[in-house]
Amino acid sequence: DLELHPPKNIWSHSGIFSSLDHASVRRGFEVYKQVCAACHSLRFVAYRNLVGVTHTEAEAKAEAEEQMIEDGPNDEGNMFKRPGKLSDYFPSPYPNEEAARAANNGSYPPDLSYITAARHGAEDYIFALLTGYCDPPAGVVLREGQYYNPYFPGGAISMAQALYNETIEYNDGTPASASQLAKDVSTFLKWTAEPEHDDRKKMLIKVLGIFSFLLGITWYIKKVKFA
Ligand code: HEM
Repeated sequence: DLELHPPKNIWSHSGIFSSLDHASVRRGFEVYKQVCAACHSLRFVAYRNLVGVTHTEAEAKAEAEEQMIEDGPNDEGNMFKRPGKLSDYFPSPYPNEEAARAANNGSYPPDLSYITAARHGAEDYIFALLTGYCDPPAGVVLREGQYYNPYFPGGAISMAQALYNETIEYNDGTPASASQLAKDVSTFLKWTAEPEHDDRKKMLIKVLGIFSFLLGITWYIKKVKFA
C-alpha cells in the first residue's frame, strides 16, 4: 500500500474549548487567494462570510471589489462582468468541470469549501498533502503530469507541489515557510468547512454552565427539601 496516514498535529483549535486562530485563518485566506484559487473554487464561501472572522467589513468589501463577477442577463439578454459585492460568492477559476479538467491533464481540482469535512484526516490530511511531496519510491512509475505524494490515495496526484518557502509574502509579516503556508491554509479550510466551529465550542461552555447549575439545584432539592 502506497498510502500514508497523515500524522495528527496539535492544532491551536484542537482543545474542546479552543477557538480557531483567526490570524492564521486570515493568512490562510491570503494563501488560498494567491495560490490555490488559480485552480480550486471555493463556491460556498461569500465575501460577507469574512466579515468579523478575518476581515473588517470595509476590508471584505475591498476584497470583493478586486474580483470581476459574472452577472446577468441584463435588459439586452447579455451576461456581463462587474466588480464583486459582499453578497457575492468567491468566483471560480474555470467556467465548468470540463474546462477545469482540460486545464489539469484530465484531473479535477475539487471545490475546497468542505474539503476538510470530506476527507479522512481533515486538516491534518490537507497539511500532510501540501507538505508531503517527495520522489517516488523505486518501481513507482508516474504518468505525464503526475507527481508523487504518499498522502494521496494511490500516491500519484495530478497536482504539483504548490507551496514552497516564500511562495507568497504575508501582510502581517509572518515568515512564510512552506509549512507555515500549509498550516495557515489548512486552518482556513477548517473554517470554511466549519464556520460554526467557534460558536459550537462557546455553546458547549454555556451548556456545561447551565447544566451544572441545574444539577446543583436538583441536588439541593433532593437533599434539603425532600428531607
Ligand atoms: C487536488 C488542495 C493548489 C490542482 C487537491 C486536493 C486538495 C488540494 C485538498 C484533493 C486531494 C484529494 O482528492 O484528496 C490545494 C490547496 C492548494 C492547491 C490547499 C493551495 C495551497 C492547487 C493548484 C493547482 C491545483 C495551484 C493547479 C495548478 C489540483 C488538481 C487536483 C487537486 C488538478 C486533483 C488531483 C488528482 O485528482 O490527482 N488540491 N490545492 N491545486 N489540485 Fe490542489
